[in-house]
Amino acid sequence: MAELSLNNIVKRYGALEIIHGADLDVKDGEFVVFVGPSGCGKSTLLRMIAGLEDITGGELKIGGRIVNDVEPADRGIAMVFQSYALYPHLTVEENLSFGLRMNGNPKADTERRVRHVAEILQITELMKRRPKQLSGGQRQRVAIGRAIVREPQVFLFDEPLSNLDAELRVQMRVEISRLHKQLGTTMIYVTHDQTEAMTLADKIVVLRAGNIEQIGAPLDLYDDPANQFVAGFVGSPKMNFLKAEVTEIQAGKATVVLADDRTVRLAVPLHDLITSGTPVTLGIRPEHFGEMGQGEADLTVAVDVAEHLGNTSYIYANFGGEQLIIEQPESRSLGKTERLTVSLSAARTFLFDAAGKRLR
Ligand SMILES: Nc1ncnc2c1ncn2[C@@H]1O[C@H](COP(=O)(O)OP(=O)(O)OP(=O)(O)O)[C@@H](O)[C@H]1O
Ligand SMILES: [Mg+2]
Repeated sequence: MAELSLNNIVKRYGALEIIHGADLDVKDGEFVVFVGPSGCGKSTLLRMIAGLEDITGGELKIGGRIVNDVEPADRGIAMVFQSYALYPHLTVEENLSFGLRMNGNPKADTERRVRHVAEILQITELMKRRPKQLSGGQRQRVAIGRAIVREPQVFLFDEPLSNLDAELRVQMRVEISRLHKQLGTTMIYVTHDQTEAMTLADKIVVLRAGNIEQIGAPLDLYDDPANQFVAGFVGSPKMNFLKAEVTEIQAGKATVVLADDRTVRLAVPLHDLITSGTPVTLGIRPEHFGEMGQGEADLTVAVDVAEHLGNTSYIYANFGGEQLIIEQPESRSLGKTERLTVSLSAARTFLFDAAGKRLR
């Protein structure tokens, strides 16, 4: 097991800079998830940690040792990819033991480790099968097993579940979580699925265009996003953003008026210095609207579509030309083209400036 630290890590391909100086500390045994939209640099960062990509600038330490120039095989890491790339002509057992056999590991020790991994992953009864005789989930388990037998200090996962169907993803997600508890090994896991990030991570690293936007525990990011990007990325369905304007600031409170409906006024605590007349964005999560009259301001919307999921309903609505989603515990009778009045409360809203910075 090992801790990891990234100090001002930069990646350039020629003149093109992809990672702009990443700082991150991963504690021994921690489960860290890199999340962010496609192309933001998640895989690049992970591959630099693995040693599969050169590090252009900065310092990478694993277990206290600078490893910038250490060969991948000597870094004490094992990586699991999206495509599991098992050897098709080898059995599960042979796939699991392959790396150890190639390294000349003693036979008895290899057999012990393979048996142990098979038990952990509950694939003992599949040992004589070949990959094509396995389901997608079973194959992915074997791929993970191949990483575990190496007894690495750090596991790296690059979207290991994205080839699986929705149900299997959930099942494997739970298994990976259980595996982490059982092994206690440091894990870094890349995904663009925010649900995976929220459920697996001790700590989430939100990336955007080669920059780390925020690092924090899942619920800290949900409760206290640093900016509009993180606010919109964490949480499902996504946070709503409405155009608004600050019209009055008094005694640490700003009066916020929704831009397209001058009748909605909300007093929000605000300590940052801004002038009245400043355009802002008001953020509110779908699940944080209240019943009419229960908050500090009411908002009437036109319903476009109502999705009824049984335990909850998602109302897609229009407010002064802006789209928003409202989650309601139960509103089966509500249909299209109706009007709906919900309430806002200041404690459940966020304000952002024009550049997306959170106003506090
Ligand atoms: N060899 C390369 N040469 C130039 N640019 C590259 C190279 N490899 C990756 N990139 C660029 O680096 C950026 C980050 O790529 P990366 O694969 O790390 O993204 P990602 O966050 O893993 O995305 P995804 O979710 O789609 O897997 C992208 O803009 C990509 O085009
Ligand atoms: Mg990637």
